[in-house]
Amino acid sequence: MIKKNKSGYIVAIDGPAGAGKSTVSRLLALNLQGRLLDTGAMYRSVAYFGVKENISTEIGLAKIARSINFDYDVKNQSLIVNGEEMGQRLRTQQVSGLASKISAYKGVRQILTIRQRELAQSWARSCPVIVEGRDIGTVVFPDVDYKFYVTADPTVRAERRHQQLKKQGTKGVSLQSILKANIERDKQDSGRKHAPLKCANDAIVVDTSKMSINQVVHFMTEHILGRISLIGE
Ligand code: DC
Repeated sequence: MIKKNKSGYIVAIDGPAGAGKSTVSRLLALNLQGRLLDTGAMYRSVAYFGVKENISTEIGLAKIARSINFDYDVKNQSLIVNGEEMGQRLRTQQVSGLASKISAYKGVRQILTIRQRELAQSWARSCPVIVEGRDIGTVVFPDVDYKFYVTADPTVRAERRHQQLKKQGTKGVSLQSILKANIERDKQDSGRKHAPLKCANDAIVVDTSKMSINQVVHFMTEHILGRISLIGE
């Protein structure tokens, strides 16, 4: 077994919405005793304060992106925003919609990219850091050793979301409408001008369509710890 230094490395995880990326990243961070940087939560935070302060211009939102104070709650593996645990406040439909819109703004992306680098690099001095997003392996950290692109068939992603909504007791959302929205969102994320969602050339593609979350996390952990190598490595 190759021994890996416990600290000092960053793992980039990208992929479309609904592929299981967040769950996988969280579990991987636990396995590696590292921290999780949820960059989507950073975009959502900017959107949240944009709504709260009634600011919608690119310049105004970029200013918000610069001024927010981000910290980390080790116990909950979550981002602390201006001293607060944001919880469901970042998950409302309004904030989700605006986050998606502002993530296309170059001014906002540039600032959040710098802040993501600063945060992850400072945390990586003492532990591994899992950075999850859409442009991590391509733009934010193109030179890191570990890059994964977590994806799944659009139909499988839609089915998972449908099951989740059913479990939560949400009625009246059809599988077809979720599938349609997923395809639309993928198109938007992959087609935007600045830092579109795309798989880095050197990323390991992990298709979760036919794998359980545990299988995915096990594979990634073993790969990072050097216990398995891929064909051709
Ligand atoms: O992963 P999420 O759904 O929490 O992300 C929220 C929004 O931010 C989503 O519209 C995609 C966008 N995003 C992005 O453009 N780049 C990232 N690195 C992370 C998220």
